[in-house]
Amino acid sequence: MTKARLYSGMQPSADSLQIGNYIGALMQWRDLQESYDAFFSVVDLHAITQPNDPSELREKTRRTAAQYIAAGIEPAKSTLYVQSHVSAHAELAWILGTLTGFGEAGRMTQFKDKSQRYGQDATSVGLFTYPVLMAADILLYQTAVVPVGDDQKQHIELTRVLAERFNSRFGDTFRVPMPVIQQDTARIYDLQNPLAKMSKSAESDAGVLWLLDDPSASAKKIMRAVTDSEGSVRYDREAKPGVSNLLVIYAALSGRQIPAIEDEYAGRGYGDFKKGLAEVLVSEFEPVRARALELLDDPAELDRVLGANADHAAEVAETTLSDVYDRMGLLRRR
Ligand code: TYM
Repeated sequence: MTKARLYSGMQPSADSLQIGNYIGALMQWRDLQESYDAFFSVVDLHAITQPNDPSELREKTRRTAAQYIAAGIEPAKSTLYVQSHVSAHAELAWILGTLTGFGEAGRMTQFKDKSQRYGQDATSVGLFTYPVLMAADILLYQTAVVPVGDDQKQHIELTRVLAERFNSRFGDTFRVPMPVIQQDTARIYDLQNPLAKMSKSAESDAGVLWLLDDPSASAKKIMRAVTDSEGSVRYDREAKPGVSNLLVIYAALSGRQIPAIEDEYAGRGYGDFKKGLAEVLVSEFEPVRARALELLDDPAELDRVLGANADHAAEVAETTLSDVYDRMGLLRRR
């Protein structure tokens, strides 16, 4: 039986992924690639909705791909490629843009947050149509499931709406995808501001744990993480957001349940708990970091793998795009 398709991606918007990306998405990708025909892209066309230095963007793109592989995505098993290598993404995004309402796109909360933060002059049309390109990414591959963190839910909802709209206007063309969101780890928070999502673009670095950071730097950030004055290691998202966030990270990285961790640290202070978490983090990330840096030492080989995977992605994507053009009545070149 052929496997159902899975699609997901990350922006190469920093030198390293942060652990929200790892826990909220990459860990699921790694598990799900076994049972799905999985496609994972490095979405460089999305990343340029923010100003980028060209040589840095190239480096960040390779770094993101290297971290996928180091975290366990196998390019021999899954299709791991760079979005801009497959021109069908930009083409389908244009088509879907013609079916998206201005108000509909304007209601996307990530767009509202970002445009407010940057101001009108620094907000590009590309940032506005970002979710339409994301819909194109997903729909090109006849995707069944999209594993993401909680913040992408609204974008996938829009993707579903656009797929259904196209299908009802032009005939069944796209599979309507489902989001897969691991509820307990869907949102990892900033260590210094445990009410805000941990993000690659956070204003301050102190609350962000980076996959490629020196482990001792990450351990220091954990030791300085904001907690509360109660002193007991107990999960309570409302009253104890800092400690609860650390517990979620601890549980995800160690594969243990939160109550077992609470028991282990009962009657002990936050210092012990944080030290325990730092150890778990270092032992999980040390090999990932070492492998990513090793892959980055041979960029030609990494580029070769990405190129070969892009050939396969382009083949699948072209089939869908060609159907779309036909169904819409665009005259085909002979
Ligand atoms: P990006 O690069 O912002 O994030 C990549 C993935 O990491 C998840 N994530 C988090 N999960 C839990 N806690 C956090 N603090 C946290 N921060 C980030 C995100 O939910 C995401 O799954 N628009 C997407 C990229 C994209 C995409 C796609 C995803 C483009 N095309 C098609 C799926 C399918 C994004 O900005 O991801």
